[in-house]
Amino acid sequence: MHCKLIGVPLQDGASQLGCEMGPSALRTAGLAGALADLGHQVSDLGNLALPPVSDITHPNTAVRRLPQIVAWVELLTKIAHRESAEGMPIFLGGDHAMSAGIVAGLARTASEKQRPLFVLWVDAHTDFHTLETTGSGNLHGVPVAYFTGQPGFDGYFPPLTHPVDPANVCMIGIRSVDPQERSAINKSDITVHDMRAIDEHGVGAVLRSFIEKVEAAGGLLHVSLDVDFLDPSVAPAVGTTVPGGATFREAHLVMEMLHDSGLVTSLDLVELNPFLDERGRTATLLVDLTASLMGRTVLDRPTRRF
Ligand code: ARG
Ligand code: MN
Ligand code: MN
Repeated sequence: MHCKLIGVPLQDGASQLGCEMGPSALRTAGLAGALADLGHQVSDLGNLALPPVSDITHPNTAVRRLPQIVAWVELLTKIAHRESAEGMPIFLGGDHAMSAGIVAGLARTASEKQRPLFVLWVDAHTDFHTLETTGSGNLHGVPVAYFTGQPGFDGYFPPLTHPVDPANVCMIGIRSVDPQERSAINKSDITVHDMRAIDEHGVGAVLRSFIEKVEAAGGLLHVSLDVDFLDPSVAPAVGTTVPGGATFREAHLVMEMLHDSGLVTSLDLVELNPFLDERGRTATLLVDLTASLMGRTVLDRPTRRF
């Protein structure tokens, strides 16, 4: 596989500074080497730079850094569209606002390839606010609403040419949902597996049902991995920690099952804030999880099935 690393030093969507350093931390933790060791061809395309921004404002005065986010979304839509034509783009974040543009661009490529795009949203949060409903104003809380074409972005975010069907979005790890997101999610066709579902059925069972759905539809699959999916005890380097997250082992199982499915065509690693890390352990864990997704196994033969 040709892995293309694309650094997105974006932190305007988060409340705390630091995600800008995420791409550097992932490189320092050895992402390129880990992929090369698995036999992949790796191209590091470097970091993207923010183009000049407009002076756009929104009537919801809570909204923060709108001009910057709009410029990033526009740029990322173009880059994700271009780089997903061939190979496997891996976006190194950067806060989760980046996935608004990334998924919009991937959806454009998918439509050109005449394949439906599916999104696995691996996160503590649903990120389903609109510009009207966000209370914190942090725009890392809105990407899913944008790329699924919910109303409330027109005239602010770039026009969405290829909305993702909400029925093609599956969320796992969810445990923090604001009241307005909750009612919007309930009305949508998005599949949400909260931590209770993981506790009750196991992460393997909930993921398997989604993988089967993507497979049956002949879909392309984008995986969006927010650091706060993980329990803060194993992944402290994120500004929005929520207790009760996925364990080290659950997270690796997700990645290994995704690898075995052969369906994943793009990945983003988001919300890593290296300023909050402990000796790079969160960046290192993300590199190891990416390696699992890209084929690292304990043995070089399949795990024995009982
Ligand atoms: N729902 C909260 C908000 O809108 C938290 C969002 C956290 N999002 C994230 N990508 N970490 O402020
Ligand atoms: Mn998120
Ligand atoms: Mn989150």
